[in-house]
Amino acid sequence: MLVCVCKKAYLNRVQRGLWGLQFRHKSADVRSEADIKRFIIDNTEIVNCESLTPEISLRLFTPRCRFWTERPELWPFPDPYWAIYWPGGQALARYLLNNPEVCAGGKVLDLGCGCGASAIAAKLSGASHVVANDIDPMAAVAVAVNCEVNGLEPLPRVTENMIDSKPEEWDLVLLGDMFYDEHLANRLHRWLQMCVTRNRTQVLIGEPGRAQFESHSIRKFLRRLAHFELPESVKEENYGLTGSSVWSYTPDQ
Ligand SMILES: C[S@@+](CC[C@H](N)C(=O)[O-])C[C@H]1O[C@@H](n2cnc3c(N)ncnc32)[C@H](O)[C@@H]1O
Repeated sequence: MLVCVCKKAYLNRVQRGLWGLQFRHKSADVRSEADIKRFIIDNTEIVNCESLTPEISLRLFTPRCRFWTERPELWPFPDPYWAIYWPGGQALARYLLNNPEVCAGGKVLDLGCGCGASAIAAKLSGASHVVANDIDPMAAVAVAVNCEVNGLEPLPRVTENMIDSKPEEWDLVLLGDMFYDEHLANRLHRWLQMCVTRNRTQVLIGEPGRAQFESHSIRKFLRRLAHFELPESVKEENYGLTGSSVWSYTPDQ
């Protein structure tokens, strides 16, 4: 890319926090969900290996997809973060599948769900109600497609910016690779604090150790629950990242 013309270069930009400069002003065409679903199916490939969760299959960009090598300006939508399975989300999903008791029977929100892998892992681990939230409407369609790929009924999806409103009573909030931008991280921190203090929500963060995360004030309220070494191909796509951790957030109350 973007994912396309040179995925490695793009991912490198993302890692340095220059995320989406080239593409973020594009707005999604007004198309039906069926059209977007068709576009996703035509321009992604089902992948079920080369991640920390081989038991979850996902439609992602791969070198065999047209836009891997296509000119980025031909991509008709905003940046397709939903077409990448990010290292933070991988660790989170692995952790949930390894520890199903964490979300069993609970009401779970995957905030910034992208492809929806963490939400899918929560559902497969026995959560009673899982909502996938992403401000990118394309991600909402990608989640539905990925549910289908994994034999699940489509999960409820929300495209509102939930971190600007009063938090609902979630048992568990999941955030995979969401601390890539300082402004977003500040807003997330404030909102997560409300989730915990008002509703005693458990918050789990999947993070591969990006600089913006390591230097953020939230870091001192986190306890590491698990660490996973990333598969070779994921390391290769994410320069300098070799592992990804799951953190529990417990602010002063
Ligand atoms: C790096 S991707 C991570 C996707 C997924 N969690 C994973 O780990 O594979 C970040 C995602 O957060 C979404 N996002 C950014 N700001 C958001 C917000 N305020 N609320 C919900 N989603 C947001 C983006 O659209 C993108 O899909």
